[in-house]
Amino acid sequence: MTDHAASASKLEPGVSQLRCIACAAVGESGAKSVRCAQCGDLLEVAYPGWKTAAGMRAGGLDAAGLKQLWLQRRTSRNALDESGVWRFREILPALNDWNLAITLREGNTPVYELPSCGRVAGVERLFAKHQGMNPTGSFKDTGMTAAASFARQGGFRWVACASTGNTSASMAAYAARAGMRSLVLIPQGQITWGKLSQALDYGAVTCQLKTDFDGCMRVLDEVVERMPVYLLNSVNPYRLEGQKTAAVELLERLDWQPPDHIIVPGGNLGNSSAIGKALLEMKELGLISSLPKLSVIQAEGANALVRTMRETGGKKLISVHAETMATAIKIGSPASWKKAVRVLEATGGAVEQVSEVEIALAKAEIGADGIGCEPASAVTLAGLKKLVQQGFVKKNESVVLILTGNLLKDPDFTLKFHRGDLFAGTEHEEEAASVLSPRQRAPMVLDANANAVVKVLEYAEQTDPRE
Ligand code: F0G
Repeated sequence: MTDHAASASKLEPGVSQLRCIACAAVGESGAKSVRCAQCGDLLEVAYPGWKTAAGMRAGGLDAAGLKQLWLQRRTSRNALDESGVWRFREILPALNDWNLAITLREGNTPVYELPSCGRVAGVERLFAKHQGMNPTGSFKDTGMTAAASFARQGGFRWVACASTGNTSASMAAYAARAGMRSLVLIPQGQITWGKLSQALDYGAVTCQLKTDFDGCMRVLDEVVERMPVYLLNSVNPYRLEGQKTAAVELLERLDWQPPDHIIVPGGNLGNSSAIGKALLEMKELGLISSLPKLSVIQAEGANALVRTMRETGGKKLISVHAETMATAIKIGSPASWKKAVRVLEATGGAVEQVSEVEIALAKAEIGADGIGCEPASAVTLAGLKKLVQQGFVKKNESVVLILTGNLLKDPDFTLKFHRGDLFAGTEHEEEAASVLSPRQRAPMVLDANANAVVKVLEYAEQTDPRE
């Protein structure tokens, strides 16, 4: 017997379907291609079965029933219920057999208050939903548990992704749990050691290509055409279904009272699309009565969505050559841009871009609240500061930042920051020195005696940054 306790649930499967976002053609579930067979655009999971004569229902339950069931499951020892993704399975595509679910007990991530970041940004109620507290240290696990399970259901021997690091770490782990092989394409020298070492340890066949992320994606598309491998990038619609649960979990934690704003980093734009889809679906199902504004923040050097919105009103993708130290979001041609535009429009959210120095500062500020995150996640706080200055976010509104990756994913960035080396030899060197130095805490090398340490302690007390 698996650890799923086969009795998991007697849910009726099959109330969902794959549908093209452009031409609305219905896709074939279980097919190898994750794109529309008619027009090649992206597919999404739709739930026509939710509309019933008795009103909106998922898994046969109305909003009150769903809330109660999901809460009850928190006391269960069933692996599916312990997962912060599958606990919400009424609003996910059903597997033919729940024992096919591959779970590392993903989700269940904390919501923290960020008091000092709130002061820095100028808002009274600031929270972080820390998706970096997932099993492999990033938000990717919530999507991967869903998509990898569908890969297993489809009988695929190989799964593959192109990645800036986190997707590959996550995919390799979930594939390993289910005995599937995994192929990882990463841009050589452009992902952090932490992420690369995860993929290796979880047994992925790891290829560092002499190109950037967008180049890896192009090569992978061709490999997938030619070989029997299943694509687990976020163009895979099942990924986004799993990632939706971050928003559902958040709203449950807030007693279904929506915050005014949710802010996410934007790279390939899968996550913003997933969280936006969750908000719209929760509204449709009556789980929440109003929509938070979902805003997306990008690095200035990887600002395809910002330019797409500002220069074409979201009509046509403007690809860029991506450059940023926040390597997780170093993406120039985001695959899910149409889905992201749709959720920005539906929720009335903003797009903004932030500089490298702003990202570094915001990361240290989040660290100083005792939380920490990787650089890509810190764009949320840097962006929030701008949205407050612009008056888009008001002082008394509640804001939730989605932190996507763990601090330990990129210790190199953090060490360089504190040693003051991060911007050495770059055009930002001077600006960085003045803006960042109050936050820098370089490690000290001392003689091994108590006097030396006591002196340091006394000095630190006199210069307490909190006063
Ligand atoms: N934050 C982190 C830590 C990420 O790893 C990523 C994306 C994002 C934000 C952006 O999310 O792509 O859904 O808009 N990382 C991908 C990867 C691309 O390959 O790990 P997105």
